[in-house]
Amino acid sequence: MRREFDFLVIGSGIAGLSYALKVAKYGSVAVVSKTEIKETNTAYAQGGISSVMYEPDSFDKHVKDTLIAGDGLCDIEAVTKVVKEAPEQIQQLLNWGTNFDKDESGRFDLHREGGHSEHRILHHKDNTGEEIQRALIHEVKNHSSIQVYENHFAVDVITQHHLGKVTEPWMRDIECYGAYILNKDNGQIETFLAKTTLLATGGIGSVYQTTTNPLIATGDGVAMVFRAKGIIENMEFVQFHPTALYNLSERPSFLITEAMRGYGGILRRQNGQEFMEEYDERGCLAPRDIVARAIDNELKNRGEEYVYLDVTHKDAEETMQHFPNIYKKCLSLGIDITKEMIPVVPAAHYLCGGIKVDLKGRSSINNLYAAGECASTGLHGANRLASNSLIEALVFSNAAAEDAIEKLKDSVCNQHIPDWNDEGTSHPEEMILITQSNKEVQQIMSKYVGIVRSKIRLNRAYDRLEVLYRETEALYQDSKVSEKICHLRNKINVGYLIIKMARKRKESRGLHYNIDYPTKLDH
Ligand code: FAD
Ligand code: SIN
Repeated sequence: MRREFDFLVIGSGIAGLSYALKVAKYGSVAVVSKTEIKETNTAYAQGGISSVMYEPDSFDKHVKDTLIAGDGLCDIEAVTKVVKEAPEQIQQLLNWGTNFDKDESGRFDLHREGGHSEHRILHHKDNTGEEIQRALIHEVKNHSSIQVYENHFAVDVITQHHLGKVTEPWMRDIECYGAYILNKDNGQIETFLAKTTLLATGGIGSVYQTTTNPLIATGDGVAMVFRAKGIIENMEFVQFHPTALYNLSERPSFLITEAMRGYGGILRRQNGQEFMEEYDERGCLAPRDIVARAIDNELKNRGEEYVYLDVTHKDAEETMQHFPNIYKKCLSLGIDITKEMIPVVPAAHYLCGGIKVDLKGRSSINNLYAAGECASTGLHGANRLASNSLIEALVFSNAAAEDAIEKLKDSVCNQHIPDWNDEGTSHPEEMILITQSNKEVQQIMSKYVGIVRSKIRLNRAYDRLEVLYRETEALYQDSKVSEKICHLRNKINVGYLIIKMARKRKESRGLHYNIDYPTKLDH
């Protein structure tokens, strides 16, 4: 089966859907989602979306907070772009029907999270992402130019070397013509040809054992671009959220939003002592990397499995009103958060690096854009400021849409692309091989490439992963393509990139903390 579109969008989260809505006025659009349209990291976002709204906040303050969190590696142009364009993109979200909470005077009720010097987080209760996803799906489903393909899994982008078409010195001489997509309902690989393609495939949390990300977060877009020889960067900066609910049987881990610490929540040892002031003068509202590392240190030193987040000193009614979903969730596990402390642990949460893009959202491959969590825009540097990712996805999807629309008149669908050929392959006889390798990847990444790293741990991870890589590539070459084997292959590619870049960084910085390179604070 061959299909042809002006714009191909892989991913149905905030990045993919907002881009689709913008380009749909100019041509035909396909939105591909590997499960249901609503199953995205976006839908799980709790805390909110950052934007300067009222004085005394200012663009300068938001820029400064972002740069401080990014620990010297942010691209100032990307930071300024996101911060300055945020209010306009928030207005666009409101126009699409998103609701954010307001106070009695009619102004937006702004939260504050770790690393933010002002209240600037727009939110919808504690389920902001679900509300944004709802509004976007409603708009997309009502747009006649957009066709949504659920249960369609992108296996690889279609690329060819293209002599002499490099438009920027940093870009590669490679052109993208669409993607090979597995229709999961009939097992066929379809050829989706497009004039321009956007990767909006989200995060990588599932590469780790414990993560706040839904199962879809397997780093497919990053792996596809890596295989297509595009540029991937900053993969060593994986953010661990300090406070996922401690509940061993649950996957993904349920998030306890950082907004709870902004609201006055206090981290305590199991014996009730506060401890964050011992690590950072900003206490519980220090940037995430510092809080996650502090908790990790507490757990290792004390041999305990969780610390507590305490909001029992806050007004019970207010707690229930601000955090109704967290209240309900904890109550279902027998914890009344207005009276009892919440057991929490850090969990893999967000990838700061990914597919390198410029300020127009262009990847290093011609006609291939990337936006959202799979893209590395330069905004986050070595550590993302809380609630800066939803807004980054909107701003960069908008930039990519503007560029793709402008290029449309000069682009054609390449009719010479061959269809997928899987002659001589068969279904793997032993699925247990894939299941077991998958577990091993997650163990390797969690044990050796987590919050605290060392040269020896990284080397060991590299060697172990190499074995899995060889076995999996051999299996892949002989197998009919299935989502399971592709996921494993993608996770191995992503794990490899994280380890490779972590080994290359000979310092501790932001989210990359290596005990062989102590920071000034360690002395
Ligand atoms: P996603 O929303 O993850 O969408 C990815 C899409 O790609 C999905 O539709 C998926 O099916 C599709 N896809 C992936 N691979 C393939 C493939 N091979 N073929 C076809 N389709 C594919 N950020 C904030 O700014 N504020 C917050 O409050 C916040 N809270 C968070 C809470 C949680 C629990 C989590 C997990 C994240 C949170 N984040 C938050 C981060 C933020 O939600 C994500 O970074 C953001 O939503 C990513 O959006 P996206 O559009 O890039 O990807
Ligand atoms: C949270 O609500 O704590 C998550 C915010 C984010 O990841 O930006």
